[in-house]
Amino acid sequence: MAKTIGLLTGGGDCPGLNAVIWSVVRAAAHEGIEVLGIEDGFEGLIAGGTVRKLGPAETRGIHREGGTVLGTTNRGNPFRYRTEQPDGSVVETDCSDDVVRAVRRLGLEGLITIGGDGSLAIAHELSKKGVPIIGVPKTIDNDLSATDNTFGFYSAVTTAMEALDKLKTTAESHDRVMILEVMGRDAGWIAIASGLAAGAHCILIPEIPYRTDVVLERIRSRWAEEQRNYTLIVVAEGAFSAGGDKSYVQAAGVGTVARFGGAGHQLQAALEAAFSEGWDRRRGVPEVRTTVLGHLQRGGSPGAYDRIISMRFGAHAAQLAAAGKWNRMVALQGIEIGSVPLAEAIGKQHLVEADGQLVQTARAVGICMGDRWP
Ligand code: F6P
Repeated sequence: MAKTIGLLTGGGDCPGLNAVIWSVVRAAAHEGIEVLGIEDGFEGLIAGGTVRKLGPAETRGIHREGGTVLGTTNRGNPFRYRTEQPDGSVVETDCSDDVVRAVRRLGLEGLITIGGDGSLAIAHELSKKGVPIIGVPKTIDNDLSATDNTFGFYSAVTTAMEALDKLKTTAESHDRVMILEVMGRDAGWIAIASGLAAGAHCILIPEIPYRTDVVLERIRSRWAEEQRNYTLIVVAEGAFSAGGDKSYVQAAGVGTVARFGGAGHQLQAALEAAFSEGWDRRRGVPEVRTTVLGHLQRGGSPGAYDRIISMRFGAHAAQLAAAGKWNRMVALQGIEIGSVPLAEAIGKQHLVEADGQLVQTARAVGICMGDRWP
């Protein structure tokens, strides 16, 4: 009887999920393995969940498409499964045994789980309960430590870079300070990569708390020394001022993580306050506008790099399953695709090094990182 494995996508979506699905299905078929697609992450394995057979015919052409044909959720943790009560309160239950039973009932030899830190942590806990797992690292945030890159990251960076390119022309036309807030949670990867690619004047990341007076000085130096009346600033959603706090729109709740939001507008308010107090008004006061790029960064087709890395991850995951090498996460190691034990892949964030090469490059080309200027 042919071996059967389950495949699911968990957590927030990102460009390249469908390319991984496409690739797992094809590489598995090549190894004589059947794939059952599990809908809506681990929810598909909890009572009432849906699974369906996925073969090359069912996945034709999806590698070009954004999103995930399997659906996903960042609220379906089976160990802390949330159900809303009639009075509006939320109760958490441990449904992990349901997942274990479903895996056995469906005759799955194991699961390929495509997800970020949250989904991979769940996968690791399930592996301890005897469910064989292979993880595939996904997230636009690029914040997983055991892989040099996650898929989805460069597509998000391209979206942010294009937004900055567009903001530049309108900033220049109106002599404005333009702030772009980008995603990334506690990591500043999208901000620094897009800011470098677009040549932003100021990049603010969570790893380097910024000072408003330094940002102000950078804006002033553009006006005074460079005779340029616009400034382009990219701010990571997790960035914060020295002595200040990160900005959230929603605190962490039962089984949910906190939602970031507000970093860009917080900086705008601080700059506007500073302009009204200490700015030399003879040159006019710059107007500030903030754009929050939001979920545009997660949508759309994956770029070439992400398609290729997704396909390589997916094929490698299927090959590991065929070889019975479970409880590992596929990983990019230099230019090679390898794998690491699942236990090593979780719990450690991959952050931008405050004195690393990327930051040094930004400083070398005249980009202010918010902590000092010049
Ligand atoms: O982790 C990916 C991510 O896009 C973060 O950068 C962002 O903070 C978060 O997801 C937003 O998630 P949600 O889908 O809950 O709005």
